[in-house]
Amino acid sequence: MTSLDRRLPPGFLEEALRADARAGLTAEPKSLPPKWFYDAQGSALFDKITELPEYYPTNAEREILRATAGPLAARTRARTLIELGSGSSDKTRLLLAALRAEGTLACYVPVDVSEPALVAAGQALSAEHPGLDVRAVVSDFEERLGFPADGEAPAPRLVAFLGSTIGNLEPVQRAAFLSRVRAQLRPGDFFLLGTDLVKDPATLVAAYDDASGVTAAFNKNVLAVLNAELGADFDLDAFEHVAVWNAEAEWIEMRLRSRAAQTVRLPGIGLTVAFGDGEEMRTEVSAKFRREGVTAELAAAGFAMRSWWTDAAAQFGLSLSVPA
Ligand code: SAH
Ligand code: TRP
Repeated sequence: MTSLDRRLPPGFLEEALRADARAGLTAEPKSLPPKWFYDAQGSALFDKITELPEYYPTNAEREILRATAGPLAARTRARTLIELGSGSSDKTRLLLAALRAEGTLACYVPVDVSEPALVAAGQALSAEHPGLDVRAVVSDFEERLGFPADGEAPAPRLVAFLGSTIGNLEPVQRAAFLSRVRAQLRPGDFFLLGTDLVKDPATLVAAYDDASGVTAAFNKNVLAVLNAELGADFDLDAFEHVAVWNAEAEWIEMRLRSRAAQTVRLPGIGLTVAFGDGEEMRTEVSAKFRREGVTAELAAAGFAMRSWWTDAAAQFGLSLSVPA
């Protein structure tokens, strides 16, 4: 790994966690933002999710990338690949290999809020691609995108946002996020976006409530993060994982349901919170998309979609856009 760049001011994430916990736990209904799932344990649990038989999105997106990485490399001739929410960068390997074979790629910039996941992936990829400039960036992409400044990384740039992580933003945040990405792009740059598609609810719910309980452990990990960071005393066994399909909003909602009336202390922020028996706290949404909706949301942010691919079963969509 050539560099590890922490784009956020010291203490930023710690302070943001405190503010989010205070706001979310005193709101009605209670909620917690999803980025706090991803400490080292959370990132490891997410990697296990991607290997579950029920969790089809990763394999579907990988199938698309296998078929399109070559044409994508030829089309974009990207010299810099920037990836938001890169995690383990696993599927990205297909893009990196194709862009290296094309002979254009000089620089890979993975951006993630989870430093342990980022460092592990950055080191592995550097070893796999000698000569590739791997510049890992720790950032919260809702706060600072973490892109290299103009002139610091060669153009054209391909910005990738895979895994349908865009669906974890609510519509208003999504629109703002897409506009901020668009504002960073120059003519000749590209935006590659992975979006999970609307399908039958049983398939969707199973993907977020697997039989072996890995997703439940992942969901509850946000409580473990609050225990570790804020000295809270959440009893993880006193909460139940819930995943429901909201047909109107077309998203999966992840919740934690209190199994009893209980009181939780969070000394790190001087807060004591009461949960009623059966009270539900929202921890994540995962929106599902349709092609027309993706096209329209991209257009509203100033992108023109140039290509749209799905896997053979049309479970997942991958789109390539340019600044309009
Ligand atoms: N791109 C990978 C990982 C998806 S999981 C894949 O397709 O499998 C979502 C990733 O986004 C995690 O690695 C998580 O740490 C990161 N992430 C979530 N919210 C983030 C935020 N606000 N800023 C930066 N990274 C974030
Ligand atoms: N981006 C992933 C998705 O929406 C994140 C994810 C998968 C997730 N499984 C989860 C988030 C379970 C919370 C709980 O599919």
